[in-house]
Amino acid sequence: MATTPISEDEFRAIRDLIREKFGIYYDDSKQFLLQSRLQTRLIKRSVPDFASYVRFLQTDSEREAEYSELASVLSNNETYFFRERAQLDILAKDVVEDHYRHGGGVLKIWSAACSTGEEPFSLAMMLLEGRRVPPSAFSIAATDISPRALERCATAFYRELSFRATEPEVVQKYFKPFQEGFLISDDVKRLVTFSRLNLLDEKAVAGMGKLDAIFCRNVLIYFDKPTQKKVVQAFATALRPGGFLFLGHAESIIRLTDAYEPVVTPKAIYYRLKNAN
Ligand SMILES: C[S@@+](CC[C@H](N)C(=O)[O-])C[C@H]1O[C@@H](n2cnc3c(N)ncnc32)[C@H](O)[C@@H]1O
Repeated sequence: MATTPISEDEFRAIRDLIREKFGIYYDDSKQFLLQSRLQTRLIKRSVPDFASYVRFLQTDSEREAEYSELASVLSNNETYFFRERAQLDILAKDVVEDHYRHGGGVLKIWSAACSTGEEPFSLAMMLLEGRRVPPSAFSIAATDISPRALERCATAFYRELSFRATEPEVVQKYFKPFQEGFLISDDVKRLVTFSRLNLLDEKAVAGMGKLDAIFCRNVLIYFDKPTQKKVVQAFATALRPGGFLFLGHAESIIRLTDAYEPVVTPKAIYYRLKNAN
């Protein structure tokens, strides 16, 4: 099958629409990557070339459905259980202690780009293992923009690659073997609520609050600086004062906003919303 060519103008038009919609930014070096990722979309929509596809995204009555598909096709869903473990230890200890220092109640956590679910289920297992907060006293919301990733969350079925950082005892305790992989136990599954949310939707982000902690790891790297800034500023509206923000280790908000205080520990960096009591 011949590859449909894309001109520079078509590439720029599509990447601007994608950036506006999801924040994901394809710089000039990614033209061929985008071209190849979109080949099947042209076939699915029966459009003959990229000029027609640009028009489809701009004006077709089914364009929102197409953007939804694009969110699945274009997102990198790489993730695994207990990724960046040091931050999860901080959740189980420091976030929990701080929560009780501030009067307790329900501990509210948000996994803000949860991909296929390994991150929020890891948060739930950390809290269960920590045994300091009863399951009835914490809530974990998990969101992503990709409908396909969210479908995978709903099945809660995982293969070997997802367990590359998981201790065998944990697999035994919280998973049951199924076909060539594992299903997460119902006791963990019921602790996480999944829904679709675009991080660029500031109203939806504010509507998540007031949270004790946000995990938004390994997604800001796909955004350009203005979008990163917009997202971390929106997080400030969803966190309680002193709330915790965890990013991926290749991500930083220094120079984007001064709303947060960075906290550097020997093994991890995280941020706290200023105005802590
Ligand atoms: C590499 S995964 C990170 C998964 C997990 N947080 C981790 O660190 O292992 C990035 C996720 O960000 C999601 N994403 C990309 N743009 C988004 C947006 N605008 N709103 C919400 N999620 C987005 C993708 O669909 C993908 O599942």
